[in-house]
Amino acid sequence: MPRDILLEWVADAEGLIVNNSVAVNEELLQNAPRLKVIAQMAVGYDNVDIEACSKYNIPFGNTPGVLVDATADLAFSLLLCSARRIHEGWDFVRANSWALGHKLSFGIDIAGKTLGIVGMGQIGAAVAQRAKAFGMNVIYYNRNRRHDDDKIGVAYQSFENLLDKSDAIIVLTPLSQETRGLFGREEFRKMKSTAYFINVSRGPVVNTDALVEALQSGEIAYAALDVTDPEPVAQDHPLLKLSNILITPHIGSATVETRTAMAQITVDNLLAGLADRPLAACVNA
Ligand code: DGY
Repeated sequence: MPRDILLEWVADAEGLIVNNSVAVNEELLQNAPRLKVIAQMAVGYDNVDIEACSKYNIPFGNTPGVLVDATADLAFSLLLCSARRIHEGWDFVRANSWALGHKLSFGIDIAGKTLGIVGMGQIGAAVAQRAKAFGMNVIYYNRNRRHDDDKIGVAYQSFENLLDKSDAIIVLTPLSQETRGLFGREEFRKMKSTAYFINVSRGPVVNTDALVEALQSGEIAYAALDVTDPEPVAQDHPLLKLSNILITPHIGSATVETRTAMAQITVDNLLAGLADRPLAACVNA
């Protein structure tokens, strides 16, 4: 929805459902004097000024919990698809290269490799569970060390050590002031030249120019991204000219079951807010 129309329409609104492409900020809240609740159909809320929502006494709801498995599946699928060059294989078959006896480059085994997870919340733990079932050694970095990491079977490392030791890195950290640009030139330089880099969190956690350079120069081997900066990625963007990359269009939670559950929580949050009841999932409760 164009911003000017949104600003016009919220003037009368008591409830608002948004997704994370909408900037929920002072400007929007000032234009919405009757607003009682905002329900976002996403777990991440880096598009929202939470302090401003609280200042205007507006509860802001999100959809935690229900998208853990879907997002972990997507993250792990990106690792498997990159490691085994699934989409190159499909392009190869479609281009008749198989019949013509051409060669396709090999992938890598993931069993026995070290996976570094950056951001060890619920989704991180679910990715770790999958990785361990595939015979990977899992290390992680998180702002706070998890007290149950022994139970999950993952080893805490400093960020530097994780960059140095990982054969593949999966990024799951939320976007915040501390994580914006977390992966830049220096970080890619510290990774193995054989490393796979997978981002399922938010595009701006990565400096895109630095990633392009790292992939072009062979500083790292391969990237798989479900999120980009900006989104959608432009057709003429250098990322799309690389051969060692796989990009999906921000589909971490895009399964029928998960999106249905997210929609249900969103509507429940909205109705609760309109009825002055506490929201089931409220960020600024
Ligand atoms: C989320 O819920 O935050 C997903 O990334 C979808 O935007």
